Order: sequence, then C-alpha cells, then structure tokens
Amino acid sequence: MSAADSPLVNAWKPEAPWAVEALREAEFGELRLIYHSSNYVYLATLQHPEHGEGLAIYKPEQGEQPLYDFPDGLYRREVAAYEFSMILDWPIIPPTVAREDGPHGPGSLQLFIQHDPNEHYFELRDRDRYDEQFLRFAYFDLAANNADRKGGHLLLDPDGRIWGIDNGLCFHAIEKFRTVIWDYAGNVMPEAWMEDLVRVRGCLALADPTTEAFRALLSRSEIDALVARLDHLIGHPVLPEMEDFARRVHPWPLV
Ligand SMILES: Nc1ncnc2c1ncn2[C@@H]1O[C@H](COP(=O)(O)OP(=O)(O)OP(=O)(O)O)[C@@H](O)[C@H]1O
Ligand SMILES: [Mg+2]
Repeated sequence: MSAADSPLVNAWKPEAPWAVEALREAEFGELRLIYHSSNYVYLATLQHPEHGEGLAIYKPEQGEQPLYDFPDGLYRREVAAYEFSMILDWPIIPPTVAREDGPHGPGSLQLFIQHDPNEHYFELRDRDRYDEQFLRFAYFDLAANNADRKGGHLLLDPDGRIWGIDNGLCFHAIEKFRTVIWDYAGNVMPEAWMEDLVRVRGCLALADPTTEAFRALLSRSEIDALVARLDHLIGHPVLPEMEDFARRVHPWPLV
C-alpha cells in the first residue's frame, strides 16, 4: 500500500488534547505495510473505547534496517522528537508514543497526518504563507541534529499546518545535520523562539522533571551534545549556509 493510492481520512486530529492518551491506550486493528519505506512501516487502524477509530503509523524496532552509525531502537528517537517538540512548546511533530505491546513488538506509534503526498516541501516553499512554519523546522532540525529531513516528510494537513515525520535520525551526539530546508540561510531567529530554546536549555542542564520523559529516551552524551548545540544556537541565532559544512548536507533521496 502506498499513501498515494487513495486519500486517507483520519478522524483523529493531531491537535486533539487526547491524542497521546488515545495512542497509548488504543487496541491495534488492521495493519497495512507501507511498501515504499526503507524500514518495515505500517499504517495501523486503532480502536479506542472513548475516541473510536483512528489511524497511526507503527514503526516496530524489529522492522528497522540496522544503521552503522545509530544504535538500534530508532523508534525511540521518533518519540524523543515529539517529546522535544512538546518541551519547546513547538507543536510541529505529530503525537508519537512508544508501544511495548505492538503486534510486531516494541515500536513507535505516531498519529497519521491526513495529507496529499504531492504537496511536499519543494512544492510548498514557493508559497509565502508556509515560510514561518518551514523556518521553525529549520531551527528545530538544527537543534535536534536531524540527519534526514527530506522534502516528502513535511506533511501539510487539511487545516494548513505542516507536520514533520520520520524523525528517527535525530539527536546523535556527533553532528550529522542533513536537510532540504536551505532557503532561509542567514535568517535570524525570532525572539520568541530564542526564549523557548533558552528555557529548554536550562531545564535540560538542570535535569528538570519536565524533561524527564524526553531524557529517558536518549543517552547522557546525546543530552550533553544537545545542550551544547542549544548553547551554540543561542550564541549564534542564525541559520547556517550549506557552505558552512565541509560535507554532504542533503538527505537522499531528497523527497
Ligand atoms: N505520521 C504520519 N502521517 C502520515 N503519513 C506518514 C506518517 N509517518 C509516515 N508516513 C508515511 O509512511 C511513509 C514511510 O514512513 P517513514 O518515512 O517514517 O519511514 P522510513 O522507513 O524512514 O521511510 P523512508 O525510506 O521514506 O525514509 C512516509 O513516506 C509517509 O508516506
Ligand atoms: Mg526514513
């Protein structure tokens, strides 16, 4: 099955205040394999006694293609990306939880974002109304050290909001930044986002309880590296140019 085959409608919306609870508690129903992904990824139909039927993306650890540079359990980074967006108060990653009891074992369960797969970054970037949302992703991915921000992984929902999916290659302790979002190089970070980064940097460094769920998903050295990246961004709040990196800075494929 491909998300492009038929428009899929999800009754569960990403901004529903109960979305995380529903993902944690729902029963798994039908699973459909998504064939065009590099890992075993499933579209899951979920049932919840209160919230009814919803759709989510289930990425079991068992189905992950091992990578030489990241440890197994990439699904935890999917959850970490969501938790990081929550502590920043930047709601740009779909609600994502870890389910130990998935039908193919432990994995991530992420709310399915209703979208048109043809509306990817390279189509949307020319329409000015999405600039602010893409800018925020540029800063988020820098902070998270996202090694794989592809154009097809920024999904536009029916309400005009953009959500970032496939965040499993974030938070490595070594710099691995790769993205398609280079159109805003030189942008100076808006003050309000800077305040969020300063606040989160402080909470992480002090191991504040509000960051506990997030910290539990990563290693100590990965958290230390994140704090160092935040320090750098706070000291130099400008989006870098491609030329600032002495290596390939685009993911492959681009979409
Ligand atoms: N939250 C989501 N909402 C809607 N569709 C999603 C979501 N997460 C994943 N998908 C769909 O599933 C596909 C595969 O998911 P994902 O990209 O996360 O897996 P992958 O194994 O890393 O694949 P790829 O090789 O494309 O990087 C996506 O290209 C997209 O079509
Ligand atoms: Mg991927």
